[in-house]
Amino acid sequence: MTTGRFITVEGIDGAGKSSHLEFLASAIRARGAEAVVTREPGGTPLGEKLRELVLHEPMDGTTEALVMFAARREHLVRVIEPALARGAWVLSDRFSDATFAYQCGGRGLDRGVFRTLESLVHPHRRPDATFLFDLDPAAALERQRAQSRTPDKFEREAAGFFGRVREAYLDRAREDPARVRVIDASGGIEDVRARLAEAFARAFP
Ligand SMILES: Nc1ncnc2c1ncn2[C@@H]1O[C@H](COP(=O)(O)OP(=O)(O)OP(=O)(O)O)[C@@H](O)[C@H]1O
Ligand SMILES: [Mg+2]
Repeated sequence: MTTGRFITVEGIDGAGKSSHLEFLASAIRARGAEAVVTREPGGTPLGEKLRELVLHEPMDGTTEALVMFAARREHLVRVIEPALARGAWVLSDRFSDATFAYQCGGRGLDRGVFRTLESLVHPHRRPDATFLFDLDPAAALERQRAQSRTPDKFEREAAGFFGRVREAYLDRAREDPARVRVIDASGGIEDVRARLAEAFARAFP
């Protein structure tokens, strides 16, 4: 049995995170480990219901953050911890860094409160590695425009919002550079993949 690892991908909407999940899952399987691919908000039946609410219902910023953490607790207890316990590698499309980026950076809520929430909701769990897809908000918006789906509540935010979210993500990387590995997400998908492959190999030699 392999030792489980917890990996997260982060970045602003349209940065290109989800496009590389399957690649990361194959890199994990290539090491003989089971890959559990999941996402936030969501990851459990209750979490997916909360995701619908949080992505589409207008609500107060603190309410929004509390819903995110409620969904996260379910995700941790029902999916992440059991998978790690059996030696699987968990790959989550977003986790707590996203709350710091969106609700603190984007919406201006106090970080201290969320550090407390983080220690309540996942006191002993941090990602082993986080790949932060860093991209200029204008470029991310261009990528999203190329898609035909209807934008959610966050995707309809103004460019200034995503500038703040991006900066808050980069702050998290500066606070914990050994965990948060910044990937330059500009350029073609193959170029980004090559940078990601290199960062993955460095994180898990
Ligand atoms: N390097 C790239 N160059 C051009 N287009 C890209 C690149 N990477 C991804 N895309 C396209 O940009 C769009 C957004 O990518 P993706 O869904 O992976 O972003 P995301 O970070 O997961 O966004 P969200 O946070 O909204 O889920 C998709 O249509 C995808 O095909
Ligand atoms: Mg995505």
